[in-house]
Amino acid sequence: MLEDMKGGLFDLDGVIVDTAKYHYLAWRRLANEIGIDFSEHDNERLKGVSRVRSLEIILEMANKEKAYSEAEKTEMMDRKNAWYVDYISKMDESEILPGAREYLTEIRSRGVKTALGSASKNSPMILDKLKITDLFDAIVDGNVVSKPKPDPEVFLKGAEALGLAPKDCVVFEDAQAGIEAGRRGGMHTVGIGPPDVLTDADICVKGLYELL
Ligand code: BG6
Ligand code: MG
Repeated sequence: MLEDMKGGLFDLDGVIVDTAKYHYLAWRRLANEIGIDFSEHDNERLKGVSRVRSLEIILEMANKEKAYSEAEKTEMMDRKNAWYVDYISKMDESEILPGAREYLTEIRSRGVKTALGSASKNSPMILDKLKITDLFDAIVDGNVVSKPKPDPEVFLKGAEALGLAPKDCVVFEDAQAGIEAGRRGGMHTVGIGPPDVLTDADICVKGLYELL
């Protein structure tokens, strides 16, 4: 499967860079400000899902999903995002996950096309900070996608931008929602994380470094 791959579709958070800790710190701060406890364990449910859905999950956990108006929820997401952007603005190349840059470079050198497939609206800034924008032929992120993972839209748009059929593409994902999106899109899938969590992935590795 990896030898025949013509296109690699890469999730960002948790595959290329460990931003989950910053999402967690910012969501926890917001949750605490509105009187909700939020643990690292709770944070697992937010991985791979959109910003809007993340807030819904936090409010649902505290049975507060009906407690706020749309305007209040927008303000809360903006508040969280400002803290998150503050964290990621201080990131540098040392925060690229082990093997990510090397693996992207290696597959590109043998003619494989690469696309980013991320839910994050902050992707352009993160790629810029890490100086890896040039490692992607196409960027599909939260700014151009309307249906969140597990909908396959993000990866179908990625394959299309690369001019490839889904079956010739491999999705690299750390979230179960992303693996499901890849499968529903007709791509092969590599889970980055424990096989007992990413049960539907074709294969699982601990990080891209294992594929070098
Ligand atoms: C995904 C993360 O990549 O992006 C999610 O795994 C996050 O945790 C989502 O909620 C949206 O990110 P952002 O940066 O647009 O708030
Ligand atoms: Mg991810």
